[in-house]
Amino acid sequence: MKRTIVMLALGFLAAAAMAAGETPAPAQNLADRHIARGLKCESCHADAAHPAPVKKEKCLSCHGGSYEKLAEQTDSLEINPHDSHLGKIECTKCHRGHKPAVLECARCHDFSRELHIR
Ligand code: HEC
Ligand code: HEC
Ligand code: HEC
Ligand code: HEC
Repeated sequence: MKRTIVMLALGFLAAAAMAAGETPAPAQNLADRHIARGLKCESCHADAAHPAPVKKEKCLSCHGGSYEKLAEQTDSLEINPHDSHLGKIECTKCHRGHKPAVLECARCHDFSRELHIR
């Protein structure tokens, strides 16, 4: 059902862009990609009129419920970004809301071959 809505939304955007003779722009950042799936500002921000930084507990309420469960989803990767010696750090250290994602690990390691964050 969610996927159908995403497909419809993307189809609409692509059609609108083609009508304007442009290549459809990819959804840029995390918040935009969530909005494109039908979520609202309020899904992340309790008070959308005065948005505050989003805590990991909020993200986890939709993504597995705990860091342990989330880590299971990425367990097949050579390097698990959700199970490291940095512990249970804020999601937004890597998945930033309205800016391109950054890999916090890259401050010290080169995982450009193993990990592709977006
Ligand atoms: C997927 C979750 C998510 C959604 C959906 C989202 N945001 Fe955010 N927003 C964040 C995060 C995380 C931050 C903290 C700064 C960052 O990481 O970019 C933030 C920060 C902000 C800030 C700056 C506030 C500050 O103190 O830095 C504003 C303004 C904002 N969001 C507005 C919006 C609006 C308006 C919408 C709806 C169109 C929206 N956001 C939807 C995650 C989200
Ligand atoms: C209200 C529920 C909800 C909240 C809150 C939420 N998400 Fe999501 N998120 C979703 C849904 C639904 C999807 C799309 C289906 C999927 O991939 O699980 C998604 C997809 C993702 C994806 C993978 C796909 C992509 O486009 O990037 C990441 C990464 C992600 N969310 C991170 C976050 C982070 C970080 C936060 C907190 C700042 C957050 N989410 C808050 C519901 C939520
Ligand atoms: C150290 C950086 C980092 C942190 C912190 C981080 N992630 Fe991720 N996350 C990643 C990377 C890298 C990927 C992409 C893995 C890959 O290559 O497929 C990812 C992928 C995801 C996905 C998609 C999983 C899938 O099955 O495809 C979700 C959802 C997600 N993260 C949510 C979160 C949430 C929620 C938090 C906080 C509790 C969080 N992440 C914290 C780096 C991080
Ligand atoms: C502040 C610097 C720093 C950051 C940030 C950092 N690391 Fe490390 N990491 C180290 C150091 C120092 C070592 C130990 C020396 C070594 O083995 O290279 C290490 C070792 C490792 C090892 C090998 C450990 C072992 O014993 O197998 C892995 C895997 C690793 N880090 C993954 C990560 C991941 C994933 C992230 C991001 C979520 C990350 N690191 C972030 C500094 C860092």
